Amino acid sequence: MTPSSSVSPFRILAQCPPGLEATLARELAVMGIPAPALTPVVGGVIWEGGWSHLLMANLHLRVASRVLVEVGSFRARALGELVRKARQSVDWERVRGAAAGDEHRIVFRVSASRSRLYHEGAIEERFREAGGLPEGPDPGVGTSTQPPPATPVLVVIRVHRDRITVRLDSSGAHLHLRGYRRHVGAAPMRETLAAALLLQGPLQPDGQWSRPAVVDPFCGSGTIPIEAALLARRIPPGMASPDLAPRDLACLHWPDLPPAVWEEEVARARAMIRPQPLEGFTIHGSDRDPRMVEAAQANASRAGVEGDIHLEAAPLSRAPRPDEPGWIVTNPPFGTRLGGRKSLRPLYAALGRSVQSGGRMAGWNLLYLSADPVLDLATGLALEERMATRHGGLAVRGVTAHPHASGF
Ligand SMILES: C[S@@+](CC[C@H](N)C(=O)[O-])C[C@H]1O[C@@H](n2cnc3c(N)ncnc32)[C@H](O)[C@@H]1O
Repeated sequence: MTPSSSVSPFRILAQCPPGLEATLARELAVMGIPAPALTPVVGGVIWEGGWSHLLMANLHLRVASRVLVEVGSFRARALGELVRKARQSVDWERVRGAAAGDEHRIVFRVSASRSRLYHEGAIEERFREAGGLPEGPDPGVGTSTQPPPATPVLVVIRVHRDRITVRLDSSGAHLHLRGYRRHVGAAPMRETLAAALLLQGPLQPDGQWSRPAVVDPFCGSGTIPIEAALLARRIPPGMASPDLAPRDLACLHWPDLPPAVWEEEVARARAMIRPQPLEGFTIHGSDRDPRMVEAAQANASRAGVEGDIHLEAAPLSRAPRPDEPGWIVTNPPFGTRLGGRKSLRPLYAALGRSVQSGGRMAGWNLLYLSADPVLDLATGLALEERMATRHGGLAVRGVTAHPHASGF
């Protein structure tokens, strides 16, 4: 931690999809934030820290979707009370500072539950009144006849059991948008979810691997192999590019950003990166669709890790099989469409057979993203749940079958 982390501490919330809080907390522990300082909540982890923590969280967390700082918290049960308290106790200076003179960019996201105040539109209106803010962006902006909106400044308001918590987004674009993935297939998985899956056994947040290989036989646009390479090389997701340029964060535009702390964090992150090549760990991806393999290749080179990943066009039956057994980590087709499930049973059965004794990949650990217990049954394997979350509106689980202990 830098000394500045103890000055003017923020109450920071790193958000993640519900179910991934423990994984996120492990990442934060590796960043040097002691476990007792962390408060897990549904969909995130809260702690107190300064600029160094805020910047580190945005640069390094692989599972987080956004990092927010609290700018106010109070109880209110009526709109008049809300306006009065919001005027007094919200740090409007920070919110205005984030908008840098263009307050039309300020966007509120309100959610209310189990509270007297529940009308989200009215809550937003009263917050604008309390802060003396103009209307938000015109909903017509960004359409074919209007110019695209300037980058929004996001204020998240949570009303729960009559307590109102106001937070300012420090990230900007959603953190799963690492910037490397321009080519995608029909069903790409979020980068954050791929990282979360890899953190359930194959890799640790500090880049340590448990077995010498990761193979994704349904690699699609390459998200799992690319995230595996970033993790193993210790490349922060916020610097996933060939020149390791850090991403543009909303908080880099706040007027009180101490530039020296940012420079120090970037320099420290770069110093931790493992220089190529990785020894003793190989990453492979394959897909039966050669266009997906091309897409994965292009994405890997944009992430700066094309030299770390071996990609090839191959069906599951001829997926790469390095000599030493490692992990199969994958996101097989889900088949959510009607009839899709039935047609996928043979594929899941083949995946299961491949790791059973006598199979092509016997001795390998299998870890995959599952959305359908019926397809899990088709594998014929005894599966263990390692994580459960949501993906594109579906409940999904990371499940494993492992002949050997994961090593952790
Ligand atoms: C759910 S997608 C994977 C998405 C990937 N995780 C991503 O982020 O882009 C499943 C992939 O499996 C591939 N696939 C389907 N059947 C296959 C088979 N028998 N052998 C190899 N690949 C197959 C599809 O081409 C598709 O790209």
